[in-house]
Amino acid sequence: MEAALRQTRAEVLLDAIAHNLRIVRAAANGRKVLAVVKADAYGHGIVPVAKRLQAEGVDGFGVALAEEGLELREAGIDRTILVLNGINGGAHRDIIAAGLTPVLYDPSEAGAFEAVAVGRPIDVHLKVDTGMGRLGVPLAELTDFLRDLRRFPSIRIAGLMTHLSTADADPVYVAEQLAGFKRAEGLVRRFGHEPSVLHAANSAAVFRHPETHFDWVRPGISLYGYPGSDSIDAPLRPAMRWRTEVLRVRTLQPGESAGYGRSFRATREMRLATIPLGYGDGLLRSASNRGHVLIRGVRCPIVGNIAMDLTTIDVSSVPEVAVGDETLLLGEQGGAVLDARDLAAAAGTIPYEVLTNVSRRVPRVYVNR
Ligand SMILES: Cc1ncc(COP(=O)(O)O)c(C=O)c1O
Repeated sequence: MEAALRQTRAEVLLDAIAHNLRIVRAAANGRKVLAVVKADAYGHGIVPVAKRLQAEGVDGFGVALAEEGLELREAGIDRTILVLNGINGGAHRDIIAAGLTPVLYDPSEAGAFEAVAVGRPIDVHLKVDTGMGRLGVPLAELTDFLRDLRRFPSIRIAGLMTHLSTADADPVYVAEQLAGFKRAEGLVRRFGHEPSVLHAANSAAVFRHPETHFDWVRPGISLYGYPGSDSIDAPLRPAMRWRTEVLRVRTLQPGESAGYGRSFRATREMRLATIPLGYGDGLLRSASNRGHVLIRGVRCPIVGNIAMDLTTIDVSSVPEVAVGDETLLLGEQGGAVLDARDLAAAAGTIPYEVLTNVSRRVPRVYVNR
């Protein structure tokens, strides 16, 4: 298909991403920036986003999966790529051949990399769990882990990392995690390793916790326009403009309902616009009867249950609304703005989920704006 036939698309504003990188860099005070582009660059499209970030001089990339890293290499990305999830299936040889940097926290993964090392050292970043309780070597097991690692002489700990669980909310816990991270560093060095980079900071920590910046910072959500916490005020620009067009306009009489389950009924004569977009496009159904869209620069409420392909909007306050009018789920229109925080609040979730949920059916269109 040559051109997208749908009126629905997500415009990805590459200049906004470049701007956000500059803001992050300034906040990180000269630290290297490893841009987190997992999950298709939080829904924005991993390859075009990474290419622009590389052109802007970003220092490296973080992905969750080996597949994501290999896709970046195939697309010509030549910076450091760190595979954050650390479980690599059978791809150890491919990972090394492609020059990806694995994150390590599991001795069996160390063995699998050792097996493909063919005499060359393999640089890994060791992840320690200082309180996220998810991945990483727990501090209490680090000594045993390091002892065990002696069986794999090709494995070189080039970096040491941890992940903060409350950088957006609880500075006391951040301090506890940091203290643990420093203990881990001491132990790793006592075992003779010389990690040249340490890193811990996600977006919220970039803005709020300079003491966590170390050598690299690992921002994700801030590059896409959100600081990682509603209480952080940073001049970031949301990078996704999600638009469709009004498909149909109709009048509802008092007592008539809209959508499955009749969750919305008109109490007076109303004008409803139907838009050709629903949860099949990633509009979270939990925003039914709660979220808003922008039409003609006015915030108009979503009414009735969001369906797979269609959603109904109360446009009674904008009588001139007509078929074909641009409708924004995210973005700026006529001076009004809706961003992923608005949709997240309506749907009872976080901007991360709003963005990564925008489905494959929504074409991404890249613009230099
Ligand atoms: C290990 C790791 N580092 C950094 C990030 C980036 O976090 P944020 O998007 O909050 O900046 C993530 C994302 O969840 C992550 O898993």
